[in-house]
Amino acid sequence: MSDMLEIDDNRSELSDEMKKLQLRNSKETKQLMTYYNCAMLEIETKFRVLSQEFSLERDYNPIETIKSRLKSMDSIIEKLQRKDLPLELESIENNLKDVAGIRVICPFLSDIYRMASCLMEQDDIVVIEKKDYIKNPKKNGYRSLHLIVETPIFLQKEKRMMKVEVQFRTIAMDFWASLEHRMHYKKNLDVKMQEMLVAELRDCAEESANLDIRMETVKDYIEENTEKTQKYS
Ligand code: GTP
Ligand code: MG
Repeated sequence: MSDMLEIDDNRSELSDEMKKLQLRNSKETKQLMTYYNCAMLEIETKFRVLSQEFSLERDYNPIETIKSRLKSMDSIIEKLQRKDLPLELESIENNLKDVAGIRVICPFLSDIYRMASCLMEQDDIVVIEKKDYIKNPKKNGYRSLHLIVETPIFLQKEKRMMKVEVQFRTIAMDFWASLEHRMHYKKNLDVKMQEMLVAELRDCAEESANLDIRMETVKDYIEENTEKTQKYS
């Protein structure tokens, strides 16, 4: 009996390996990943257009940096397995919302909401999900505004809606998130040290969030007073 179970286990492992091989090498996968890449370029261009328009009109750029990334097939497979999802192409489109990802880094908090609204109001964009980790930070202190949007890509014979994850952060939030992310790769930290770092990072997140608010207040003050001086001079 146990021999039979072992054979079944071996078979399912083998068939998983076949599925992974297919995902990694099929023409259909390449095609799907190209579609995601095109969608990512579309959204990136939208932000570059906004950035140029704002710079021209107001002599101020609400976007500091735009970073894009396409999830690797290894990460896609790892996520499907971790979430116990089928190792199939359809499963990627149906279940994963972050194959294409854009990070928009803004100088100030208000820029984040302004840029997010500008994107959401565009009439070819469908907003699928919005998670505001700025108004509701994660327990570890993580702050960002996350959107999942669908954008059309225009192919020779069809229009296809593709999902893209957009993360909006201030420079300070991005600085914090990069450091926090690094901690996850340090596997050999002992428990005490880990607890200390988690607490320290939570503290840094609070300080950093306060700094974002104070800097915004200073900026608003400068802007208001510059307008007044310009009016009366
Ligand atoms: P995933 O299944 O990991 O995509 O999580 P989710 O679907 O619940 O999405 P969520 O919006 O929570 O997080 C998506 C992405 O945001 C992650 O892949 C990270 O890039 C980023 N992120 C979320 N939480 C954290 C965090 O605590 N620290 C850091 N550094 N990044 C985070
Ligand atoms: Mg993710």
